[in-house]
Amino acid sequence: MAKGRGAAAALVVVLGLVVAWAPSPSSAHVQIGAYNKTCPQAEDIVYKEMTAILGKSPELAGPLLRLFSVDCFSKGPYIALPTGRRDGNNSVASDVGPNSPAPGANITDLVALFAKFNLTTKDLVVLSGAHTIGKAHCSAFSGRLYNFSGANGASDPTLDANYTAALRGQCKQADVATLVDLDPPTPTVFDLDYYKQVSAQRGLLATDAALLLQDATKAYVLRQANASSPAEFFADFAESFINMSKIGVLTHGHGEIRHKCSVVNPPSPTTSSATSLAGSLLLLVLLLGAATAV
Ligand code: HEM
Ligand SMILES: *[C@@H]1O[C@H](CO)[C@@H](O)[C@H](O)[C@H]1NC(C)=O
Ligand SMILES: *[C@@H]1O[C@H](CO)[C@@H](O)[C@H](O)[C@H]1NC(C)=O
Ligand SMILES: *[C@@H]1O[C@H](CO)[C@@H](O)[C@H](O)[C@H]1NC(C)=O
Ligand SMILES: *[C@@H]1O[C@H](CO)[C@@H](O)[C@H](O)[C@H]1NC(C)=O
Ligand SMILES: *[C@@H]1O[C@H](CO)[C@@H](O)[C@H](O)[C@H]1NC(C)=O
Ligand SMILES: *[C@@H]1O[C@H](CO)[C@@H](O)[C@H](O)[C@H]1NC(C)=O
Ligand SMILES: *[C@@H]1O[C@H](CO)[C@@H](O)[C@H](O)[C@H]1NC(C)=O
Ligand SMILES: *[C@@H]1O[C@H](CO)[C@@H](O)[C@H](O)[C@H]1NC(C)=O
Repeated sequence: MAKGRGAAAALVVVLGLVVAWAPSPSSAHVQIGAYNKTCPQAEDIVYKEMTAILGKSPELAGPLLRLFSVDCFSKGPYIALPTGRRDGNNSVASDVGPNSPAPGANITDLVALFAKFNLTTKDLVVLSGAHTIGKAHCSAFSGRLYNFSGANGASDPTLDANYTAALRGQCKQADVATLVDLDPPTPTVFDLDYYKQVSAQRGLLATDAALLLQDATKAYVLRQANASSPAEFFADFAESFINMSKIGVLTHGHGEIRHKCSVVNPPSPTTSSATSLAGSLLLLVLLLGAATAV
């Protein structure tokens, strides 16, 4: 319970940092306080709502955080702050695949994919730190336990042997459904343990382990694994999260803020971003409601 509160509080702090971040001039259309005039209480409401929901259901922190990232990589409905972001006219499931990193992607692929979204190698190693909370399906990593490099029965030799054995206990070969903690020591706390795990050859996903295979990412992992305070990681995470929130931003009248996240707005003679504020807030509450109901 105390740990759950820790996760909720930490995520709220991270989101709070995002809320408080000053906008850069180059992204004038996604900004802090986009709703200052039309609805001054907007960000307060969202912040308080998030705090309350994560206080009651800290296990939602993982799914919510992942939702932010999936949305960014698939140009889908957007719920993170800074506010005022416009959605694309199209949102299709098939967009998610090519725009999302495959669990088996190597470090070269990962760096290239992030670069495609204007994200740096540093963003990659920093944002991967989100795997300090949440869970993964066995199917996302069982190849490393039973079929490494397509060799039946082989496990990934770079994975800590004791951890491999423990994971084989949790995920039988054909099991695709079981969920396993990404950061077993502290699965609900947003802290540096992810980097400690990765540095000790206990990164769960192949992409976590891959961070040790390039000098720059490896150096960051080792530094955070040994850091006495999470301050640098938290500051980096807030910055990288904002970098991620700018992916594919549509400006100058392109795109729209959806009234309903799942559908393009119906044609309207007077559509403006101001009139769709309620839609954006409603979307957030609906998403949180849907998540709570699961
Ligand atoms: C480096 C590229 C990334 C890869 C390859 C990746 C891959 C994955 C995979 C395969 C899972 C398990 C999904 C499942 O089995 O259901 C996962 C979970 C998760 N990812 Fe990532 N991810 C990446 C980046 C990110 C980013 C940028 C964030 C957020 C900032 C993020 C946050 C999360 C969270 C919180 C979970 C746990 C979700 C839950 O508990 O339901 N990941 N990721
Ligand atoms: C909204 O208000 C905040 C706090 O007063 C301020 O920092 C921010 O620049 C304002 N944003 C806009 C777009 O006016
Ligand atoms: C990374 O994977 C791609 C295929 O996705 C492959 O073409 C490339 O050679 C691999 N690079 C390394 C360094 O393993
Ligand atoms: C965010 O993006 C900027 C501009 O590309 C980059 O200089 C910065 O390093 C990124 N932030 C992090 C924490 O990587
Ligand atoms: C092992 O991996 C290979 C190559 O990716 C694949 O063709 C084969 O079906 C896998 N075997 C099992 C048992 O999953
Ligand atoms: C693996 O487990 C054994 C027995 O519990 C222990 O002695 C050993 O130190 C562990 N090795 C690692 C790398 O954790
Ligand atoms: C952490 O620091 C200690 C001593 O400063 C060093 O011996 C150790 O190798 C470092 N660990 C990592 C993972 O960098
Ligand atoms: C990357 O940045 C360039 C230059 O600012 C911009 O034109 C492009 O749309 C950005 N790409 C993405 C996916 O955000
Ligand atoms: C989206 O739809 C609107 C109205 O139908 C249109 O004006 C706009 O050009 C479309 N495309 C984008 C990328 O916004």
